[in-house]
Amino acid sequence: MEQIVQQIAAYTQEIQAFEPKTAEELEQYRIKFLGSKGIVKAMFGEMKQVPNERKKEFGQVLNSFKQLAEEKYAQFEELKNGAGEAQAAVDFSLPAELHRLGTRHPISLVRNKIIHIFERLGFTVAEGPEIEDDWHNFTALNLPENHPARDMQDTFYISKHPDWLLRTHTSSVQVRTMEAGKLPIRVICPGRVYRNETISARAHCFFHQVEGLYIDENVSFADLKQTLYHFVKELFGEDVRIRFRPSYFPFTEPSAEMDISCIICGGEGCSVCKHTGWVEILGCGMVHPKVLENCGIDPEKYTGFAFGMGIERITMLKYQIKDLRLFSENDTRFLEQFTGAI
Ligand code: DAH
Repeated sequence: MEQIVQQIAAYTQEIQAFEPKTAEELEQYRIKFLGSKGIVKAMFGEMKQVPNERKKEFGQVLNSFKQLAEEKYAQFEELKNGAGEAQAAVDFSLPAELHRLGTRHPISLVRNKIIHIFERLGFTVAEGPEIEDDWHNFTALNLPENHPARDMQDTFYISKHPDWLLRTHTSSVQVRTMEAGKLPIRVICPGRVYRNETISARAHCFFHQVEGLYIDENVSFADLKQTLYHFVKELFGEDVRIRFRPSYFPFTEPSAEMDISCIICGGEGCSVCKHTGWVEILGCGMVHPKVLENCGIDPEKYTGFAFGMGIERITMLKYQIKDLRLFSENDTRFLEQFTGAI
């Protein structure tokens, strides 16, 4: 009995001093002390030889010995999962794996640039809803029901509400701004618009526009020309030329379309300008007196100009993009080419 207790004391010292460095050392320890043929088991086997009156005392010694052996094993158990080696393998000098940042969409880049140019002229941004009512999208803009010019734009109507539609242009925001009644007005209205068009390289069922509106006393067509000339020079460079062609829009009188000299060929003639040297970029005109009246503004006192342009069209010109569908396909190989481009 005394011999066994001495042996246990020796093993206890061995266990206390044990500090494994590898999973293999730990496994050897497990087999030696805790295995099915290990020392702990063997010591319990000695119980038979202990006289009955000392069994209790000996049992307590055995139990704390077993507990010590198990605790030591548990303390180093994570060596088994290779954690020790993994820790040693971390190389802090390796370059970090960078998170991929997204890029701004080319439409957003060009929209922001346009906003920025007009903001420096004192325009502020106004926005309106994409689901509009008939009044703001058509009637107030001098397009009463059955007016043939309503067919210029194929409209998506909301089936549950006969008066509602997806706005076909951002001119609806003009109406909302004028109705708000604070004069003078100098706003630009960027936003998404919808038309029932067959999707192709040149048309889509949704796209983006920027509308401009300037209302004050004594605003003239000369102000319109100067403002737009400044705008295109800022956007496309000093060398660009402009020309106005008479046109028709129900909400302006007189109306015009504005062309710029082709930025690809400089006006020589190429496939982009269809060999004319000019490309159309926007519609504009003096706000029709009837529109002012519809929105509660006195046309005898106030005049103003308005213009509207498609952001996709300008972006395609600026970057020579040939297919409109690329803007909505979310192909990152296309989208990430525009980082910091403007
Ligand atoms: N709303 C027109 C369209 O979507 C564009 C436009 C033309 C807006 C002339 C205007 C304007 O403000 O004066 O085709």
